[in-house]
Amino acid sequence: LRIAVLFGGRSSEHDVSVMSATNVIAALDPDRYDAVPIFVTREGQWLLSHLNDGELVQPTSGTEICLVPGGQGRIMAIPEHGDPHDLPGIDALFPVLHGLHGEDGSVQGLAAVARVALVGCDILGSATALDKDIAKRLLIEGGVPTARSATIHQGSAPDFAELETALGLPLFIKPARQGSSVGVSKVATRQDYDAALTEGFRHDRKLLAEEFIQGREIEFSVLEDIEGGLYVSRPGEIVPAESHGFYTYDAKYIDEAGAALKVPAELPREVEDAMREMAAKAFRVVGCDAMARVDFFLTPDMRFLINELNTIPGFTDISMYSKAMAASGVSYAEIIDRLVEHGLA
Ligand code: DAL
Ligand code: MG
Repeated sequence: LRIAVLFGGRSSEHDVSVMSATNVIAALDPDRYDAVPIFVTREGQWLLSHLNDGELVQPTSGTEICLVPGGQGRIMAIPEHGDPHDLPGIDALFPVLHGLHGEDGSVQGLAAVARVALVGCDILGSATALDKDIAKRLLIEGGVPTARSATIHQGSAPDFAELETALGLPLFIKPARQGSSVGVSKVATRQDYDAALTEGFRHDRKLLAEEFIQGREIEFSVLEDIEGGLYVSRPGEIVPAESHGFYTYDAKYIDEAGAALKVPAELPREVEDAMREMAAKAFRVVGCDAMARVDFFLTPDMRFLINELNTIPGFTDISMYSKAMAASGVSYAEIIDRLVEHGLA
C-alpha cells in the first residue's frame, strides 16, 4: 500500500509535525507499506521528500506534488524543470500535520475531494476539535464538564475586572485554534491580561479566557475500530517541571527536563474507568472518528474535566499518544496498522 504522509505544514506547529512524521514513517512496516513523504512548506507548497539517514528531507524547492481531484489517489509530479507527469498512485493520505491547515478539516476535505482514503479523523471532527470554542460548546451540550471560559473576539475583549469576577485569578488566555500551547499565557494582573491579548491575537482572531484548574494533567489515547467501537488506552500523566509554571511549548519540545511523562498514571481504578468512559463520550460529542488524544484535568478531590481533544496528536519522542497505547499493549506499528485499516474501510 502506498501511503502519502504529509508533514511540516503552514501552522506554528510545523517543527512538531516534522518530529511526529519522522516517527510515523519509521513505524510504517516496509514490508506492507510504501511511504511517500510529502513536505508541506510553511507557505503551503507540497514538495516531494524522502528519507536521508532516517531524517525526513525538508526541501525548499524541487518537485511539487499535486493530488488530482476525483483521481482516487492519482498524484502528479510537477518538476522544476521538465513536464508534469503522473507518479504511481497512492492508496491513502495520512496527514501528520498539527494545527491549522492540516488538523482542522481542510486537508481532510481535500482527501474527500480527491476521493482518496484518509488516515485519521474526518472533516467534521477535525474542524470542531481544533476550535477550542466550538469543541467546548459541544462538550457542554453533551454533558461533559470543561473549565469555565469566555470567548473573546478581536475588537471586543471584555474588561479585565469582568473576567476576574467570572473566572477568578489566575486565568489562561489561549488562541482558540492553536496547539502545543502556542500563544497561551497565564494571567494574574491587568498588565498580564493586556500582554496576553496582544500575544493571543498574534495567533488567532478568537481567544478563550479560561479559569485556572489546579490539578493533574491526564491524557487518554482513543482509537476507533472499523466497526465503530472505541478503544481507550490506559491514562498517561504529564508532570511539568516547576520552572515552567505550566506545560508550555518550551516545556514540551525544547527543554528536555521541561516535563516528565508518567505512563500509566497512578489513579484509583474507579476514577480511571470513569475518565475512560468520559474520554469516549467526549470523542463522540465533538464528532471525532478514527483517532484522538483526549486531555483532562484532574483536581485533588478527584473531579475531572476535559481540557481538549487532539485529532492528530503529537507523535514526537515525548508525545503521549503512542506511549499510552504502548502501556495498554498496543505497539506503534499496530496503531498505524489500525489507523490505515480504518482509513481504507
Ligand atoms: N498539538 C500537539 C501536537 C499535541 O496535541 O500533541
Ligand atoms: Mg492541542
